[in-house]
Amino acid sequence: MLVRKPLRPAEARAADPRSPPSVRRPKGPAWLRHAVFYEIYPQSFLDTNGDGIGDLPGIIRKLDYIASLGCNAIWINPCWLSPFGDAGYDVADFCRVAPRYGTNADLRRLFREARRRGLRVCLDLVAGHTSVEHPWFKASAQPGKNPQTNWYVWNSSVWEDVPDLATVQGFSARDGRYVANFFHFQPALNFGFARPDPRKPWQLPVDHPDVLRVRAEMKRIMRYWLDAGADGFRVDMASSLVKRDPGYQQTMAWWREVRAMCDRDYPDAALISEWSSPRHAIAAGFHVDFLIHFNGLAYTTLFRHERSRDIFGVRARYGHSFFDRSGRGSVAEFLRTYLRHYRLTRRTGYISIPSGNHDIGRLSEGRTVAELKVIFTFLLTLPGVPCIYYGDEIGLRHVHGLPSKEGGYGRTGARTPMQWTGGRNAGFSTGSRHRLYLPIDPKAGRPTVETQLNDPESLLHHVRRLLRLRAESPALGGDEDFLPLGATSRYRPLVYLRRKGAERFLVAINPARTEHELLLRIRTKSVAGCVGSGVSVEISGSGLRLRMRGVSHGVFRLIP
Ligand code: GLC
Ligand code: CA
Repeated sequence: MLVRKPLRPAEARAADPRSPPSVRRPKGPAWLRHAVFYEIYPQSFLDTNGDGIGDLPGIIRKLDYIASLGCNAIWINPCWLSPFGDAGYDVADFCRVAPRYGTNADLRRLFREARRRGLRVCLDLVAGHTSVEHPWFKASAQPGKNPQTNWYVWNSSVWEDVPDLATVQGFSARDGRYVANFFHFQPALNFGFARPDPRKPWQLPVDHPDVLRVRAEMKRIMRYWLDAGADGFRVDMASSLVKRDPGYQQTMAWWREVRAMCDRDYPDAALISEWSSPRHAIAAGFHVDFLIHFNGLAYTTLFRHERSRDIFGVRARYGHSFFDRSGRGSVAEFLRTYLRHYRLTRRTGYISIPSGNHDIGRLSEGRTVAELKVIFTFLLTLPGVPCIYYGDEIGLRHVHGLPSKEGGYGRTGARTPMQWTGGRNAGFSTGSRHRLYLPIDPKAGRPTVETQLNDPESLLHHVRRLLRLRAESPALGGDEDFLPLGATSRYRPLVYLRRKGAERFLVAINPARTEHELLLRIRTKSVAGCVGSGVSVEISGSGLRLRMRGVSHGVFRLIP
């Protein structure tokens, strides 16, 4: 059994003599070493008042479930006041919970209830832009000068094009175009230009007083939630802040300031980035970076090469995924990129390879439970910080053919309600079916937590077993050695060691339907299987003989 210590209250953290700010902790809060995150899209998790939309009391009600999986941290997508043009990534008030989710008091209660169970709670910080409904932007869009005039990036004429930035013209009576970070209603906050064009005085330098005000405001927002009991932030589009910033030099410099603030005042708070370039993000001061579906293909080549044609940013241009039973994919591209980032960052931060997220197709698309088990064995034995997207632990399916909801487009099908039971609305909501945020997966045999809890062979139990093993085995922790054993550009199973001192685990992953046999030059007295199916290991001469059936996986303890 896993015993979780209750965490310390937020107020006590900064003053805690066990983590004095003078001690250099290059990798940040110690809890990250053993962190396993669970991402919650709040709209779709659990609705407790029958309005068809998930809410904070719903998350509170399911904290025991999350802890029972073996996760010990949560990241919640934005839950702030918003017109929800982009599912809440268009924030209208950074310090106010959207009424549809509850109140600020509910969020504080969530922090407390999570802490009682040993769970950390990270919030989503949309640092680079707001909604057009945000009062700052409303002021900024006025033609007359006011304190917010320069808080967003406006040029000086609606007729003037800005070649390398996306702009919106004609929004208000202010004569100028504003720079949009994502959708047109997400105006970029003004973090300045690293190389402002001297002929364009509207491009403010990074040390302009108004830019400094925006930056100070963002820090104030972070402090507000950290003081309220949050354990950190997942930062949206973290690399997007400073414009015309080759090599991200100025963007990184700003995040380093934020990191210094955290090291000094909130040493237990985690900074997690959506950057998808760990070597940049961690040099910028983040503790964790998601290596995901943009800035290169590494992540995509693992899971979604062929399958996600219509999903955000992912195009099936480059052949097959490694985790396809066809065996026509390769893990080489992933390993090349991953190991490059890993070697550059392992002493200073963590990489997270998530099971999915709210922006990409569901992992379960086109896959059997046996195949998903192979994937989870891989994901949950990697170093760094694993992250499970809600529902992936039961193989929640991608629901096709839905009209776009809240700016989801192709992402919408990966955001449908969690399926808890076989009852009404799959236990997601007691409200009318027609009011649900999104329809529940209509297909027969849809997975639920209830059925999988009753089936020891379910994906859910597999995930629990893996996370228990991870928690009990120092060598499987986020910090410990990761040693891949020969992967080539051709299809090959993936075999690696995890190691801490004398403790070693061998992990064997064969997603393909073909059998494979490998001889490994590894000396050990005996071998004990821990989790998995279809792989056998035998000591042979001076090494190990590994026999892997089609679609097989195994984690073995090597006993010296
Ligand atoms: C990030 C979020 C995505 C959002 C976008 C704009 O990529 O994950 O959901 O639409 O930023 O904020
Ligand atoms: Ca609700």
